[in-house]
Amino acid sequence: MEEIIRIEGVSKNYGNHRVHEELTLGVRRGECFTLLGPSGCGKTVLMRLIAGFEAPDSGKISIDGVVVSNPASGIDISPDARKIGMVFQDYAVWPHMTVFDNVAYPLKLAKKPQRELTDRVMETVALVGMSGLEKRLPSELSGGQQQRVALARALVARPALLLLDEPLTNLDANLREEMRFEIKELQRKLETTVLYVTHDQEVALAISDRMAVMDEHGHIRQTGTPWEIFEQPADPFVFSFMGIANFLPVRREGTAWLVGEGTQNIPWKSPADDTPLQAAGFRPSDVRIAPPEKGEGLRGIVRRASFLGAMMDYLIDVDGATLRTSIETHEALSGGLMFKEGEGCVVSFRNLFWFDAKSLSEVVK
Ligand SMILES: Nc1ncnc2c1ncn2[C@@H]1O[C@H](COP(=O)(O)OP(=O)(O)OP(=O)(O)O)[C@@H](O)[C@H]1O
Ligand SMILES: [Mg+2]
Repeated sequence: MEEIIRIEGVSKNYGNHRVHEELTLGVRRGECFTLLGPSGCGKTVLMRLIAGFEAPDSGKISIDGVVVSNPASGIDISPDARKIGMVFQDYAVWPHMTVFDNVAYPLKLAKKPQRELTDRVMETVALVGMSGLEKRLPSELSGGQQQRVALARALVARPALLLLDEPLTNLDANLREEMRFEIKELQRKLETTVLYVTHDQEVALAISDRMAVMDEHGHIRQTGTPWEIFEQPADPFVFSFMGIANFLPVRREGTAWLVGEGTQNIPWKSPADDTPLQAAGFRPSDVRIAPPEKGEGLRGIVRRASFLGAMMDYLIDVDGATLRTSIETHEALSGGLMFKEGEGCVVSFRNLFWFDAKSLSEVVK
């Protein structure tokens, strides 16, 4: 499929601090692509490189088939000529300008005729649900409304490409949830390509057609659909980054895989014999717990039982390995699964992810 952004072997350093090294990434036309990574991994720097506010030390960036950055051939197209809409993390709207003037600004710069400018601004203000507030100043708006102004300003010139750098961080949880669906809606309606940057995995799962997971060193660990990233994580880092993760150390003895330091073997699908796998990853929601006499699985002891309202959260010791599981409180009550600390239990898994120990050392400390 045709790519609207092509990043090839891009490196960027600040002094001797290496932010990106030989980064390669493609965003397809019309998709909502999310770049997910921990704070400080280089997401904003990458956005600034794409937008043209920073130049790479080496490598090539193309937008819409045109090379916009390539230091080797002295190419560095200016940000306005890249025709990209952007909302940055701090989403600064101009405090002395009304909503109308804020949104109109890019069209004024482009010297659009007044009539067209007015129509466009009113239409875009309506698009972000702000009709009637055109004459207000930012100081007369809520944080969420200011965010919408920034979004309208980014959209007013109908760019084919919209860069959104964590635009929802300053909003409260409810508004953030609402806005993420609105952004998705807008993207569909306007048929723009969106490159969205966040460190929130829920946002990424909710809005992306495809996403990439970046580690703290700026390396992309996996690219895929939200489903692929969640269900087929490439490594323990990706697996952990997508939510609370547990790892069960497993060692091989003869033909059996034994848990922790004990003698219980994993009675479920185990990895092919020749792969040096030594850890099974799982999510708390994939662990089943049962009373010792009722279930099959690994015998363990409940170390901590926490009532969290809707959920019961248990920490279970299995031969020196600690597992965390959560089950709905009403299910625990009706199913006789209210365990006390110190009680025995058996655990089994709905789903296990196998990882080798070399990559595991990065996440299990
Ligand atoms: N102008 C600069 N000069 C020197 N170092 C910089 C500059 N801009 C960014 N950095 C460094 O580059 C790294 C990546 O920063 P960046 O802002 O891209 O992180 P981020 O992934 O956007 O993080 P967050 O999720 O917190 O916004 C950080 O270590 C940061 O300190
Ligand atoms: Mg950032």
